[in-house]
Amino acid sequence: MPADATSPKKLRSNRATLTHKAGYALRHPAKVVPYVRRAGRDAWLRMKHPDHVGYYRAVMASDTRRSPEAAVGSRTHDRWLALGEMQFDYLVEHGLRPGHRMLDIGCGNLRGGWRFIGHLDPGDYYGIDISPDILVAAKRTLTERGLQDKLPHLTITGDLTLDFLPDAHFDVVHAHSVFSHSPIELIDQCLAHVGRVLTPSGFFDFTFDRTEGTEHQVLREDFYYRTETLLALAEGHGLHARFMDDWETRPHGQSKIRVGRAPLTG
Ligand SMILES: C[S@@+](CC[C@H](N)C(=O)[O-])C[C@H]1O[C@@H](n2cnc3c(N)ncnc32)[C@H](O)[C@@H]1O
Repeated sequence: MPADATSPKKLRSNRATLTHKAGYALRHPAKVVPYVRRAGRDAWLRMKHPDHVGYYRAVMASDTRRSPEAAVGSRTHDRWLALGEMQFDYLVEHGLRPGHRMLDIGCGNLRGGWRFIGHLDPGDYYGIDISPDILVAAKRTLTERGLQDKLPHLTITGDLTLDFLPDAHFDVVHAHSVFSHSPIELIDQCLAHVGRVLTPSGFFDFTFDRTEGTEHQVLREDFYYRTETLLALAEGHGLHARFMDDWETRPHGQSKIRVGRAPLTG
């Protein structure tokens, strides 16, 4: 995503409207054919998989076949490395340290994960994802980085109830570029359950595609939410929540919210 994705104009635009699509097509004619191809493929996958997780899993299978790095949103290997480094640096600046236990929701092919695994003690990184294909790619990243001795957990999931994980276990829960691909029901499910697996002083950071206009989605792949919607959802589940201003300075394009069981200090 371009660095100016959070410019005031972009924050108000509704990418689902015909006028937006027509204007975008005029400005970027080379993108029309790939978009039409993608829209056709997605329509077919949505017909085969009416539930969102099944559908998105099929999208990931198709994208991962072409390139696991592109499937998690990085057009080049350098970009893949930089995006992972950005996630890692941010959490380390916010106190992630060896001895902590971390749950990485939608861990993908370990773009950030391989750095977290290297930083944490053996067995303390837990990555979950809905896509078996991307988890196979994650194992490849793990092997390439020589991190076998760190024995991370990499687990497939079908929902975000986190019911197979213990109470008060994780110091840090993280979901990077996951809620940007999730309908509100899935985010609500996650927020309803994440408090149970967090330690009392732990926190859950997630990024989201922010809009200051109408909430909308494109191809049921990309979802745009208002900050206050997500803050209210978290608070409705008894969590403390806040918008992370210091993330906005990073060239990422998505915004970040932190939630926790206790009032947030860091
Ligand atoms: C854009 S990629 C980001 C991957 C990783 N967090 C990173 O930053 O490299 C989104 C990942 O989230 C996974 N995902 C999407 N929806 C999910 C859900 N409801 N539960 C768990 N994983 C999900 C996808 O399969 C994909 O691997």
